Amino acid sequence: MTNILVTGSGGIGGVNFIRALRLSEKQQNKKLLIISTDHNPYYLKFSGSDVKLVSPRHDDDSFVPLLIKLVEKYNIEFLHPHPSSEARVVSENLASFKKTKVKTYLPKPTSIMPDKLEIHDALAKKHVRVPKTVEITSFEDIDRAFSEIGKPLWIRAKRGAGGRLGLKVETPEEAKHWVELNRLQHRATVADFIIQEYLPGRDLAFDSLWFKGHLVTSYCRERLEYFLKHISLSGITGTPTIARTFVDEKVNRIGVEAVKAIDSEPHGFFSTDIKEDASGNCVVTEVDGKWHTTAPLWGYAFAKALNKLELNIAYQYLRLALNGDTDADLPNYNLFPADYYLVRQLDAGVILEHEDATWRII
Ligand SMILES: Nc1ncnc2c1ncn2[C@@H]1O[C@H](COP(=O)(O)OP(=O)(O)OP(=O)(O)O)[C@@H](O)[C@H]1O
Ligand SMILES: [Mg+2]
Repeated sequence: MTNILVTGSGGIGGVNFIRALRLSEKQQNKKLLIISTDHNPYYLKFSGSDVKLVSPRHDDDSFVPLLIKLVEKYNIEFLHPHPSSEARVVSENLASFKKTKVKTYLPKPTSIMPDKLEIHDALAKKHVRVPKTVEITSFEDIDRAFSEIGKPLWIRAKRGAGGRLGLKVETPEEAKHWVELNRLQHRATVADFIIQEYLPGRDLAFDSLWFKGHLVTSYCRERLEYFLKHISLSGITGTPTIARTFVDEKVNRIGVEAVKAIDSEPHGFFSTDIKEDASGNCVVTEVDGKWHTTAPLWGYAFAKALNKLELNIAYQYLRLALNGDTDADLPNYNLFPADYYLVRQLDAGVILEHEDATWRII
């Protein structure tokens, strides 16, 4: 039996991660003891763990001491902080965990949740294509962005996830009203925004697993539709209801270049977001040492539908963390074949669909 601790276990990503590990237990007949935390006592109940505990939020002083206490109490061998905010805090405080001997498998803290302007600058420095960007420090910068870049533009917050405060804007007036409204309602200050070239093309993602600087495996997918997009101003609600796998050498290459641009020695799971411009060029909008919400779910869906344990990314990640290897010769690229659709709907479950088969996954 292996004892592990998963934080943020009630969030969509955390639920997917534990669900994938539970499937791997069945498929390899090996038992895990999963202790889990979440700061939300209601969502915590969704976790498929053995022991569920409410934690403070990641920015509370008692968060790390609680994790250390749990590691000691439950003889935890591996600690997996799932949400990027919690992963960053653990990565920043690894020294505090040293005495416990618990293993972690995390990128360095500076590679987790970097500011979008930092990402832009790091990518541009390595000649990875990025959206034309203007940093906003005053309203004059908004006028300058429209005269330098043209229209429409995409305004967004530098920090945060889920497309935070992102909006397509057609005129300087719209952009200024957006900034001003968010300033008045205390969501952000003027300097929290950047404004970028609007990218109208396909919405792509490159998900990759790295170990000590080496690419272990990866795959590409396209988001076709976001959850509840019609009730959001931007249409971006963080995670897709419909997405499909695809295979494209160019996206693989750009995905790897983007990860290496923010971290020369990547270690852990990395997510790259790519949007196409009007001419179909791939432009990187984000690269982050975090788990995309659906990454463990894709692994779960393929492992379950095709009965192939090795496609379960959460399982391979745990193996790497514990033993330093995977249980199969995983391909560096295109772990999942093209044209599989993952369809998720609130309260309705998950379907994996291919032209000749449909699987009810959840
Ligand atoms: N310049 C742009 N033009 C058009 N759409 C954009 C642009 N930048 C980002 N988007 C859209 O917003 C989505 C979220 O942006 P991005 O991934 O860069 O940041 P994020 O806030 O960290 O989001 P998440 O946490 O969901 O990954 C992108 O997947 C894309 O659909
Ligand atoms: Mg993103």
